Amino acid sequence: MNSSLWYKNIVLYQVYVRAFCDSNADGHGDLAGVTQKLDYLKELGINCIWLMPTYPSPLKDDGYDIADFYSVHPDFGTLDDFKTLIAEAHKRDLKIITDLVVNHTSDMHPWFQAARADRNSPYRDYYVWSDTDQKYSDARIIFIDTEPSNWTWDEMAGQYYWHRFYASQPDLNYDSPALRNEMLQVQRFWLDLGIDGFRVDAVPYLIEREGTNCENLPETHVFLKEMRRVIDEEYTDRVLLCEANQWPKDVLAYFGNDDEFQMAFNFPLMPRIYMSLYDADKTPIQWALENTPAIPKNAQWCTFLRNHDELTLEMVTEEERQHMWQAYAPDPKMRLNLGIRRRLAPLLENDIRKICLANAILFSLPGSPVIYYGDEIGMGDNIDLFDRNGVRTPMQWDASQNSGFSKADQLYAPIINMDPYSPSMVNVADQQKDENSLWSSVRNMIQIRNQNVVFGTGELILLQTSKAEVLAYTRKDVNETIFVINNLSDLAQEITLNIVSEKQKLKNLFTGNSFDLRENQLLLSLAPYQYLWLS
Ligand code: NOJ
Repeated sequence: MNSSLWYKNIVLYQVYVRAFCDSNADGHGDLAGVTQKLDYLKELGINCIWLMPTYPSPLKDDGYDIADFYSVHPDFGTLDDFKTLIAEAHKRDLKIITDLVVNHTSDMHPWFQAARADRNSPYRDYYVWSDTDQKYSDARIIFIDTEPSNWTWDEMAGQYYWHRFYASQPDLNYDSPALRNEMLQVQRFWLDLGIDGFRVDAVPYLIEREGTNCENLPETHVFLKEMRRVIDEEYTDRVLLCEANQWPKDVLAYFGNDDEFQMAFNFPLMPRIYMSLYDADKTPIQWALENTPAIPKNAQWCTFLRNHDELTLEMVTEEERQHMWQAYAPDPKMRLNLGIRRRLAPLLENDIRKICLANAILFSLPGSPVIYYGDEIGMGDNIDLFDRNGVRTPMQWDASQNSGFSKADQLYAPIINMDPYSPSMVNVADQQKDENSLWSSVRNMIQIRNQNVVFGTGELILLQTSKAEVLAYTRKDVNETIFVINNLSDLAQEITLNIVSEKQKLKNLFTGNSFDLRENQLLLSLAPYQYLWLS
């Protein structure tokens, strides 16, 4: 494959730097810590790291509130550490992308400080101001549990300012040509350092217009296409990944005509994997697959089970949301905004069969999958921590004190200390030694996926099965056909699949065992939650 299309066939790993590895014993994970763990990531088999924000920031939204676009927060290290990390990642043939927050800054950013202090400052126009809080009233509030309005009064400025997220994150004004240029400079700065691309945060909200919901507006796309032009004209092999929590038809627009984002998260698919698992019914996943539109030739979806935010239930119906909350967030403390603030393993009742099946579905569907740090070992969460912090606790490397994450006395957040999720029961070192562990299973799936490009780029054809409990599909390209069969239920299932193939035998990619095809029929006895990849 053309090297500029590298993102079409990768497994990504999302690193929350503060939680990953503390190299200098100050209680915070840092960039040098990530560098120390590159061999671990390589061993797991991933091909690309997504680094969450490490910019200087008051960290009121964990770095998504940037106070300086051109530097590194001292807790995380220095620009030199960043350069070292990029170089060491590249040495190991790992790509590395980082978050770029384009929609807003921190209120501590010097631009905002200058803007609020003086109406005539050149930076005033970098933000969105108003004398009333009644403008753009059709725009929804995203952080409904913490923010009463998208407008906040600023005493010093003598005006309201606009913000789609926390009040401490004023929105930038993309109607300002100076601001637009400045943001392209930011992009160039990190590309010049050698970063392979960006996960671009919160892109639907760049532009506001009266009478609209202020999402996905045409002028927003105009700017995003400018970002892509910078990548295409001035750099090689760099990627833009779109974070737009939107319905498929609106996300589709972010791929443009292969002239905007190369990648975008598939938000509607994610909750439907959980729905299908809970109900032992393939319908939700099939619905998502059937409603995922075709994307431009060079584009790719990014799929995921969890990330650092709440498990968002924005892309489901009201009825489905209530069902998901009842199923997966019985305790109201588990709910946040329109979502669920829990990790993968606790969501799936720490049942390794279900966790493996969820991963197997993720890894066998079209798109490049993302693993959220710690989910490869089934880390737990802590719903007593504020907001989304409960899914951002220190990585559990081993069973030692501080779980091998840090040598400090005081950590940025407590380690999960409740069984069955404490480091003595969930840690990397033990799972690496155990070939039946979640870690070993996930690694195995990644390896098979890496060996079979059809998973990344082949087409998907749903297979008819007589049982709602069994989800089956073919992944196919000119060279290869793989049949994927998933038993979504906790009961054994006997099924017959009609498969048209010249071959008489199919090989189980996990065990090497073969299955006989008789007159294009495949008879299968599936164990509870079993998944098969047959070639
Ligand atoms: C989306 C990010 O994933 C989330 O963590 C953040 O709070 C908002 N964007 C605002 O930047």
